[in-house]
Amino acid sequence: MKSESQVIVRPARNVRGSVQLPGDKSISHRYGMLSGIAEGPSRIENYSTGADCASTLACMRSLGVTWERKENSVIEVQGRGLSLSAPTTALDCGNSGSTMRMLSGIVAGQKFTSEMIGDDSLSGRPMERVIKPLSAMGAQIASQQGKPPLLITGGSLTAIDYKMPVASAQVKSCLLFAGLFAEGETRIEESLRTRDHGEVALRAFGVQLESKSAGQGTAVRIRGGQRLRGMEARIPGDLSSAAFFLCAAALFPGSQLTIPNLLMNPTRARLLDILMQMGLHISVTQLEEIHGEMVGTLQVEGAKLKGATIAGGDSAALIDEIPVLAAIAPYTDQGLEVRDAKELRVKESDRIATMAKNLRLMGAQVDEHDDGLTIPGGQRLYGTEIDSFGDHRIAMALAVAALRAQGETIIHGSEAAAISFPAFFPTLEEVTQR
Ligand code: S3P
Repeated sequence: MKSESQVIVRPARNVRGSVQLPGDKSISHRYGMLSGIAEGPSRIENYSTGADCASTLACMRSLGVTWERKENSVIEVQGRGLSLSAPTTALDCGNSGSTMRMLSGIVAGQKFTSEMIGDDSLSGRPMERVIKPLSAMGAQIASQQGKPPLLITGGSLTAIDYKMPVASAQVKSCLLFAGLFAEGETRIEESLRTRDHGEVALRAFGVQLESKSAGQGTAVRIRGGQRLRGMEARIPGDLSSAAFFLCAAALFPGSQLTIPNLLMNPTRARLLDILMQMGLHISVTQLEEIHGEMVGTLQVEGAKLKGATIAGGDSAALIDEIPVLAAIAPYTDQGLEVRDAKELRVKESDRIATMAKNLRLMGAQVDEHDDGLTIPGGQRLYGTEIDSFGDHRIAMALAVAALRAQGETIIHGSEAAAISFPAFFPTLEEVTQR
């Protein structure tokens, strides 16, 4: 299916300048939800401009939370405390798996029924991972064989002890949020460490929880009945959006790029280690902590790129960055090997298939595995017509691949970038030298 809009990306000489990124998507979702169930007002600066985070705010409004969007991505939210009001229409999560999965933990604690719906892509994504534990806590949930729409009747929840079978920060946050409404102490264990924004955000809103390492993962405990306090917050720039610019810079030894106010949370920053191992020069200055999240200014200089292997815990830690690493892989010396990344198949698109298909159209050799990709290095790519398959990270990753291809590349479905970064293409154009 060819989508609506298209962009043409021409080959570049290098990438130079400074990039301001929208607020981190993962943090924006969590602040958007938690400010709604907090007591008192919250003021959130640099809230993500992406459509996904707008879906979260729209759902919160349907649940009776009032909020207003001010200038410069500032939102002001009037928290309602833990009790929300019954929605009169379905909660439309759009394309956003984060909204549906995390918010299901909050509506599971409400004494009414909510219907959660999504677009075609979201309607095909697995929700069993939240349905099972939330049902064990006492929520009644109907679905289409584990997929949306979800009909959730909440009420009195009981704490559970839960070992997550899939490494997923969305599920961990969902259960921590549900834990706020549960009688007793909810314990969640993940076998691989995933992003900890849920834990950090809950603490920032005044909740006490305990989190400690357990093997390669984490064990978190939260007591039910705790109240949240509204706060004034500023959200750091999105590291997963920065990934496209870092990888674009990495393609050219002459690149020099600065990214101020960037999220540096260690559970998200594995990309920086990998790119440094591959040869990119990265330095971080002005490191500070805001509401428990590390933020800094990043400076990068391009270099000749070696290859990389991503497997095990790295695949979970880099799950959103693998498409763009795949996009630069053909231009590296030794290429890229990705394994243990089956989760990529159930993202906004099947990202293993959509990256393989598009890179092949550009002339690359790509081996597809059930759980990853092998992309040899030292390849030459050619501009052609390719498609985002409606997936924001695929649209943006392909733009990066196009910068070093020979000839022009036409990316169909480029509007998908608006899911996380509406200004992506003009911003890329600003720092691209030809
Ligand atoms: C996210 C977690 C990841 C990631 C998604 C955002 C989050 O999903 O892919 O873009 O904010 O918790 P999973 O939890 O499904 O791995």
